[in-house]
Amino acid sequence: MAESMQGLKRTHRCAEVTAKDIGKSVTLMGWVQKARNKGGIVFVDLRDRSGIIQIIFEDGDINEECFETAGKLHAEYVIAVQGVVEERRGAVNENLTTGALEVRAYMLRVLAEAETPPFPVEENSRTKEELRLKYRYLDLRRPDITANLMLRSKVTMLTREFMAKEGFLEIETPMLGKSTPEGARDYLVPSRVHPGSFYALPQSPQLFKQLLMCSGYDRYFQIARCFRDEDLRADRQPEFTQIDMELSFVDQEDVMDVNERLLAYLFKECLGVDVPLPIQRMPWQEAMDRFGSDKPDLRFGMELKDVTELVKDCGFSVFSNAAALPDGTVRGINAEGMGNMPRKKIDKLVEFAKGYEAKGLAYIAIGEDGTIKSSFAKFFTEEETAGLIRAMDGKNGDLLLFAADRKKIVWNVLGALRCELAEEQGLLDKKDFRFLWVTDFPLLEWSDEENRFTAMHHPFTMPKEEDWDRIDTDPGSVRAKAYDIVLNGVELGGGSVRIHQNDIQEKMFEVLGFTKEQAWEQFSFLLEAFKYGVPPHAGLAYGLDRLVMLMTGADTIRDVIAFPKVKDASCLMTSAPGIVSEAQLKELGIEVTDTKESEQ
Ligand code: AMO
Ligand code: AMP
Repeated sequence: MAESMQGLKRTHRCAEVTAKDIGKSVTLMGWVQKARNKGGIVFVDLRDRSGIIQIIFEDGDINEECFETAGKLHAEYVIAVQGVVEERRGAVNENLTTGALEVRAYMLRVLAEAETPPFPVEENSRTKEELRLKYRYLDLRRPDITANLMLRSKVTMLTREFMAKEGFLEIETPMLGKSTPEGARDYLVPSRVHPGSFYALPQSPQLFKQLLMCSGYDRYFQIARCFRDEDLRADRQPEFTQIDMELSFVDQEDVMDVNERLLAYLFKECLGVDVPLPIQRMPWQEAMDRFGSDKPDLRFGMELKDVTELVKDCGFSVFSNAAALPDGTVRGINAEGMGNMPRKKIDKLVEFAKGYEAKGLAYIAIGEDGTIKSSFAKFFTEEETAGLIRAMDGKNGDLLLFAADRKKIVWNVLGALRCELAEEQGLLDKKDFRFLWVTDFPLLEWSDEENRFTAMHHPFTMPKEEDWDRIDTDPGSVRAKAYDIVLNGVELGGGSVRIHQNDIQEKMFEVLGFTKEQAWEQFSFLLEAFKYGVPPHAGLAYGLDRLVMLMTGADTIRDVIAFPKVKDASCLMTSAPGIVSEAQLKELGIEVTDTKESEQ
């Protein structure tokens, strides 16, 4: 029977009891992790968010009724215990911070009974994620998830503290906004008062933070919830959190400076890790050329090498044809020490590459004894093969992999392959934190789908002054004052210096294919605001979830979000999204014309 906690006051969390408390009386409350009844003595592991401590109920120390109750405790019962802290008599448990202590109970109350949970509440659970997420409130009791959420809380607290010290104001921006083009798909919210009209949930506070700069709040930040209706992956959720900031009267270097100090502060305070400053910077072009990625993982080598010149006239048409393409290239990576990879495994790599739009993957495997297996041997003379191996710094025991295609595809394929091979080789130490600023992104990106240029970052990103005169003749070559902060192959955050001059902004809209009217219709409030005195400004936003994921070593951001969604954007616990009543729809003036059968 559940009892009230009246008259009791918790004195400690379980794992906050220390050797200094030996001999003292404590009152603890928490969940039964495990209860072992050994006849005259009952051992209970009591758990709360701080950890576990062992409680001993011994016949004679405690009244008959309580002792009997102790014998009937089950996992996940919520209990209150009063007892005296003692040195542990049995073997010390090295796995617990309280492993050398125990509490000899003289009082027990059951505050709530519990049914047997659908899976054991334990560290490193092997329970399927679907089941864990369905019962997320139980899953959240597990110490590894608890540790993640505690670290997340610490990160936000420290961020607030740091930002306040640096003169930033925390200002909230609306959740109900206006749908704007560009970026991901919006989540829409129907308006009851304006039937047929919709709010959009913010993809980021971008426009509002720029308006705040116009209003003179020269250093803004927000721990902001953002919503994007896009395909989900391990590091993407439909709703996620940004550490978002904007600064006036600054240039790129000022934003980078404050942010690398923030990162160094967080890593030192949370993990005891020293981040050497300044963080390395690398222009986008170099990142793509060397690593095939705009978010290179610097924990290992395997850099891309351009061999186009060497093979452009060779007899292997895969190479020579690719070299002749506009923007065509042949590049390779040297997977050192993997020359003895079995054929089957190499075939798997070829399949992997095809997943990244490669038409194939050519290879030269060099045995330990120098024997050479090459997928294009018959098209190459021995000297040509030797020349290619030399160009790739190939040694006995190495595996050389080549992709030939348009640059964009080759970068993508080899960039991904490099990470895949590193993972396979166990080269990815999660405690090795390699930060990088990627700078000088292209301003525009050609979209085959839309047959026009789109903004690589967003339409308010400032072009580099020295490139701007090419905006009409060669728009693709104009670089932006945009920067990403990258950690171990993950884009942690990104930002840019913003356009604050009307003529440049108008030109940008023109290049993006907006008419003046369209631009004004979409962004009238921003463009209007810019008429009344806009300071030069710049900013950046981190994915907080990604940051905490990397700090904790979690494999997905789901493990650092209390109530995450799964791949199809549903919540397994609440079953959101759900059907609503006819009456609700009617009120909103909405008619549903298409539903998934399973939801009818
Ligand atoms: P951006 O779109 O690059 O920039 O977003 C900033 C950071 O937010 C994180 N992020 C996500 N995290 C989890 N799930 C998602 N679906 C998701 N999408 C993005 C990433 C990313 O680096 N307003 C600009 C910032 C600026 O210019 O100041 C912006 O939103 O870590
Ligand atoms: P094929 O002539 O298509 O049989 O290809 C011969 C070899 O070249 C095979 O190992 C293919 O995987 C590889 N290959 C085909 N297309 C490409 C490409 N675009 N880049 C690199 N290798 C390729």
